Amino acid sequence: MNQNTKPVMGVDWGTSRTYPAILDEEGNCQALLPSGNQICNGGIPSLFSYQEEEGVVLCDDVISEELEVYDPEHVVTSIKMRLSELIDLDDRTFSGEEIATQIISVQMEYAKGELEIQDLNADLESVVVCAPVSFGTSERIILKHAFENAGYRVLRIIPEPVAAAVYYQKKGTILVLDIGAGTADAAIVRENTLMTAQNPYPYLFVDSSGVEIAGDLFDEKIADYLAEQFIENVAGIDAGQLRNHGSAAYRRLKAAARKAKEALSNKMEVGVTFNGGEAGSGRQRLTRQEMNTAIHPLVERIILCVRQLIARNRDILDQSPEIIMTGGSSYIPYIRERLVQSFPQISQERIYIKAPEKAIGFGAAIYASDMKKIRPRVDFSYGVNTYINDVEMIQTLIPAGVELPFVTEHTYYTRHNDQIQVAFHLYEYRLRDKTLPMDENLQMKVSAAVHKFNEPVPKGTSCTAKMTLTEDGILELQVTSSISDHVGNTSCSIFTNSDSGR
Ligand SMILES: Nc1ncnc2c1ncn2[C@@H]1O[C@H](COP(=O)(O)OP(=O)(O)OP(=O)(O)O)[C@@H](O)[C@H]1O
Ligand SMILES: [Mg+2]
Repeated sequence: MNQNTKPVMGVDWGTSRTYPAILDEEGNCQALLPSGNQICNGGIPSLFSYQEEEGVVLCDDVISEELEVYDPEHVVTSIKMRLSELIDLDDRTFSGEEIATQIISVQMEYAKGELEIQDLNADLESVVVCAPVSFGTSERIILKHAFENAGYRVLRIIPEPVAAAVYYQKKGTILVLDIGAGTADAAIVRENTLMTAQNPYPYLFVDSSGVEIAGDLFDEKIADYLAEQFIENVAGIDAGQLRNHGSAAYRRLKAAARKAKEALSNKMEVGVTFNGGEAGSGRQRLTRQEMNTAIHPLVERIILCVRQLIARNRDILDQSPEIIMTGGSSYIPYIRERLVQSFPQISQERIYIKAPEKAIGFGAAIYASDMKKIRPRVDFSYGVNTYINDVEMIQTLIPAGVELPFVTEHTYYTRHNDQIQVAFHLYEYRLRDKTLPMDENLQMKVSAAVHKFNEPVPKGTSCTAKMTLTEDGILELQVTSSISDHVGNTSCSIFTNSDSGR
């Protein structure tokens, strides 16, 4: 079997955990998580630990938790939310892309190891990756580069809620609620009932609303509550340390709070053991009711975010919409309870929560298996500046929605006598108009190409701009003329497709 016919891995690259998956020969989704001694039930930790010369990424749940608690200065977590940042560790500065690349390299090695252990066939060079709907072009490019630097060709980046919908295969218009570690995203995705060769996507993203509130903040609220309980009820506890979010004792308490939170999804009450060394130690009971009270204000903000999305899309949502819940924090029963209590149109029976930590990775794997049938398309329009009736305008050369690869050529003429060069600026925008005014609110300048003539040329000298958008999402602009052997060239990488249906 050659690489082209083998299944492609789908990757839910998460803030706290990453879930790679693939379809086996029978068409079943298989998780590619390390087995054996390592414990990575909910996904491979997206964690970077800087140790002297080398960055090390650890997949083991236990080791990663120890590092976060005991060596936080050398640990970078949640890099997905910080892709465009520069991060200082000791005396070195890393770009978000570099750290992401390191994490991805190690995570994908684990995934490939699992392919071998499970004896699964796969194209080892390609992936389909998910991205939150909040990611703009620049974040998607960094994500794409990080996978490329790690040695993988990104066949497609798909929105996370679309991946979830592909996994659940629901009909009609669906509300997807993804509550992970860092963010809660509510999105509306609609089944594409008019699938054609030009519009071959099974689900289209419609609208979304998100807040940076999820599991991590729940842990903090629960830890704050537990801190007060320990201080009140256990002799010898160092209150100062337990209330200080920067202390090692607090980090330990927060790790204990996370475990308690996860256990309380199935139990009504748990025992929480706190071992804070010099800060003291002890044991407390924590009930589900107490936890619900501690996280209540955060849950209400997530509910508000859902409310805003539903209000904006009232006309397209069913009377009683189907809801898919994904992300590890969806296990928390209180969130479901509050959803049903807050919205008369939401009923418990229409909330689907089959495998919240898996759904996005599995959806990406299913999507990836169909990839080679689907041609990539572009989500944005691209154009260059030119003068029309003496007014500088932007002329669209590549309209949003075209199938890739796409090549187009236009001839332009110099405006003045004795011009020695022409400069083409390349713009990106959502509009599909043939020409646009130069309004910086409407478009973004992405690149420029300068074409130099051998000598000053008369007004009206022609030159040709050829714009190409490759199947891999590389945008190239090439300017040539018969008066010059110089070629004005520019090339940039763009995100090719988000199945957004825009
Ligand atoms: N059984 C459970 N009950 C409650 N919370 C849980 C449970 N299992 C996992 N979680 C929480 O889910 C969160 C991780 O979810 P997930 O793996 O979906 O996040 P992520 O994809 O890394 O983050 P994000 O979606 O924000 O990028 C953690 O906060 C974890 O504590
Ligand atoms: Mg996630």
